[in-house]
Amino acid sequence: MHERILTGITTTGIPHLGNYVGAIRPAIKASATPSVESFFFLADYHGLIKCDDPERIAQSRIEIAASWVAAGLDPERTYFYCQSDVPETLELYWLLTCLTSKGLMNRAHAYKAAIDSNGADGEDIDAGVTMGLYCYPILMAADILLFNAHKVPVGRDQLQHIEMTRDIAQRFNLLFGRGKEVLTLPEAVVSEQAVLPGLDGRKMSKSYDNTIPLFAGGHQALKAGVMKIVTDSKLPGEPKDPDTNPIFTLYSAFASAEAATAFRAELTNGLGWGEAKSRLAQCIEAELAPMRERYEALMAAPGKLEDILQTGAAKARLLAGPLLEEMRDAVGLRTFSSVRSVASPGSAVRPQPPAAGASKPPAMRQYREADGKFHFKLVANGGAVLLQGGPFESGAEAGRCIRGLLETKGNTHALPTHVRINAELPSEEVEAGLLSWIESSAD
Ligand code: TRP
Repeated sequence: MHERILTGITTTGIPHLGNYVGAIRPAIKASATPSVESFFFLADYHGLIKCDDPERIAQSRIEIAASWVAAGLDPERTYFYCQSDVPETLELYWLLTCLTSKGLMNRAHAYKAAIDSNGADGEDIDAGVTMGLYCYPILMAADILLFNAHKVPVGRDQLQHIEMTRDIAQRFNLLFGRGKEVLTLPEAVVSEQAVLPGLDGRKMSKSYDNTIPLFAGGHQALKAGVMKIVTDSKLPGEPKDPDTNPIFTLYSAFASAEAATAFRAELTNGLGWGEAKSRLAQCIEAELAPMRERYEALMAAPGKLEDILQTGAAKARLLAGPLLEEMRDAVGLRTFSSVRSVASPGSAVRPQPPAAGASKPPAMRQYREADGKFHFKLVANGGAVLLQGGPFESGAEAGRCIRGLLETKGNTHALPTHVRINAELPSEEVEAGLLSWIESSAD
C-alpha cells in the first residue's frame, strides 16, 4: 500500500514567497514520488473559524487553488480538493466529537492562548471564543483520519493537533474497532527547511506583515516587495555581511548552489544593495515567471479551476465514503435489514419497472452483513440491483473495488473480481446502468 501524505491549507490569506518555499514547493516535489499518495486540500471550514469576512475567504480559496496548480501540482496524480466539497468530513467530525473528551480540547494551545489573553485583559475568559475554535483540533483530526493518512507535514505550531488526532483515533479504535485498527494513527512531519525571512528579517509571515506576494500583483509587486527589504546602510564598495540580512537567504532559496556562492562572494566584495536587490528580483522571477503565466490563465478562467477541484472532491469521496460507512457501522448506525443477495438461488428480488425519473443514474450502496463483511451493490433508480460486489474484509477494500469499476468503461466483461452482475437482467440494461453511473461519478 502506498504511503499517504496529507496536508491542509487554511484559506484565510494570499500565498506569499514564504508559503511557496516552505510549503508549496517541497510538497509538490514530494508528491512526485511514485510510492506516495498525496492529499492536498483547502481547509476552508477551518478558514471560517479564523475569519468572518466572506470576501476574503472567497478570494483566498481561489488564489490558493490557482497558486498550487500553477506551481506544478498535478491534480491527476494527487488528491486535490476543497474540504467543504467533501461533506463526509463533517459527519466524521461529529462521530469523533462524541468521543473526544472536553478536557483534551481544554488543553489546545490556540484555545488556551485565547482564554489566557482574555484573563489577562480582565475579560470573561470565553469572550470571542467560538465552538469552532474550541473544536478546531477535532475537525483537523477528521480531515486526517477520513483518509487514513500516514504522514502529515505541518509547521511546529500544529504538532499538538497531530498528537490530539492520534489520541482521538486511538480512542475510536479502542471503543469501536473490535480489535482492529480501523483508524490509522498519523505521524507529523515537521519540515526542517529553513524558514524564509521576510522584509524585516523575521520569518516571512502575514502575522508580521512582512511578506512578498507569490503571484498576486504580478512582476511589479514582486519587484516592489524586494526593493522594500530592509538592509543596513553600507554603501556600494563596502563589504556586506551576507548572513545578517534577508537578501542572501532569499537568493539562495531560488538560485543554484553555484550561483549562491558567487552572489555571496560579490556581496563580501562590496556589491551595492540596489544592484543586489535587482539581481535577487531577477533570480526569483526566473523561477516564478512561467508559473505566474499559468496562474494568471487560471485566475482568468476560474471554471477550469472549479472543475479540477470538483473532480478532486469526487475522487476523494470515493475513498472517504467507504471508510465513513465502516465507522457508521462501527458506532451502531446500521441498516435495519440485511440485504438479500441477488446472486443467491431462488432470490425473489425482481427488478421493478422503470418509474418516472428512471433516467436518473443508478446509485452505489455500500453495506455490511451480519458476518461483518463489506459489500456493495449498484442499484438502478427503479430499484433493480444491477451489480453486486463483495465480500470484502474492509470498507477500504470495497472502495478500491468500486474505483476499479470506474475503469471498466461500462464493459461488464471487464469487471473486477468479487463483482457479479445480476443475471436476471438483460446484459444491455446492466451495461447501460454501469455506464450511466460511471458518467455521473465523473462530474
Ligand atoms: N490547521 C492547519 C494549519 O493551520 C491547517 C489544516 C487543517 C491541516 N486541516 C489539516 C493541516 C489537516 C494538516 C492536516 O496549518
